[in-house]
Amino acid sequence: MYKLIIRPIFFIFDPEKIHHFTFSLVKFLSKIPFIPSLFRGLYQVNDKKLERNLFGLTFKNPVGLAAGFDKNAVLYNELADFGFGFVEIGTVTPKGQAGNPKKRLFRLKDDQGIINRMGFNNEGLATAIEQLKKNKGKIILGGNIGKNTNTAPEDYTEDYVECFKGLHPYVDYFVLNVSCPNVGSHAKLDDVDYLKELITEVQKLNNQESVQRPILLKIAPDLNNQQLDEIIELVAETKIDGVIASNTSVNREGLKASKERLEEIGNGGLSGQPVKERSTKVIKYLADNSNKAFPIIGVGGIHSEKDALEKLDAGADLVQIYTGFIYEGPSLVKRINKAILAKS
Ligand SMILES: Cc1cc2nc3c(=O)[nH]c(=O)nc-3n(C[C@H](O)[C@H](O)[C@H](O)COP(=O)(O)O)c2cc1C
Repeated sequence: MYKLIIRPIFFIFDPEKIHHFTFSLVKFLSKIPFIPSLFRGLYQVNDKKLERNLFGLTFKNPVGLAAGFDKNAVLYNELADFGFGFVEIGTVTPKGQAGNPKKRLFRLKDDQGIINRMGFNNEGLATAIEQLKKNKGKIILGGNIGKNTNTAPEDYTEDYVECFKGLHPYVDYFVLNVSCPNVGSHAKLDDVDYLKELITEVQKLNNQESVQRPILLKIAPDLNNQQLDEIIELVAETKIDGVIASNTSVNREGLKASKERLEEIGNGGLSGQPVKERSTKVIKYLADNSNKAFPIIGVGGIHSEKDALEKLDAGADLVQIYTGFIYEGPSLVKRINKAILAKS
């Protein structure tokens, strides 16, 4: 029904407008008494065998919604009814910011991909906290945090620290997003020495809290093997709890979209089917070359149950979807969970 009726209608309209429309629609529908249980009946797969225990948390199933979908933490309670094992909110920055000028979100239909240069558009930490106070406790929540675009390099750490402190009471795990290609100069966030400093600072704060939250690092799919070796070393040294691989890509190789179309779109992060293989390779490299020393959340181009199983086989402990959710609809979550069950 989604691919046959809903998607063709949605895809007539501007992607960003449809994103907001879908949010309003799901919010509205979820207020009708029987609808949430209808969604649960349609999309949830409840089976103990799907449970995953990772960094001290019990995930009902290993399929999560990736960051960037619910940036302001306004829909996670409703999204819990769609069968996810966890939802990652954000990226949240200390101050609200508009992000890059529109248009900034583009579908590549022939490639089953998306290019976005949203630029961390979000309403900021205070608004996210207000939304998180409404948590009905139905699902594990990740808090994906970043820096404001106009923050000076010497203040980057302060931005992450502020978000970490603010969200600590409200989320179950944290993600330090250091790999978004859309937020200006990236030199410092690519520097492993700086990442060590950042992670250490956030861990120091974590240790001062009565409860310690797992902290993960989200990396780009465009890192070469030497950079991935550095990430493995960084995880070993800092003992950060895990890695999310991966974010969107700046690479445009092998796309069906014409050169003219890509030029017209311009800069941005590519997601969906075109990043699938690269992201799986990154996961496999990290798992094999660290002797599977740390948990990995695998994300990038999962549009089918087969794609998800490939990520798990490559060494991912959990998976996340974003672009596949747009192209395939909510039944994808159920299909993946069923496939994982069938294999267990
Ligand atoms: C429109 C859009 C916005 C995104 N925003 C964020 C974000 O704010 N923070 C983040 O860590 N990742 C963000 N991502 C990246 C996704 O979380 C994911 O890592 C990436 O899209 C690859 O997965 P996919 O192929 O399933 O989409 C965004 C992706 C898209 C398509």
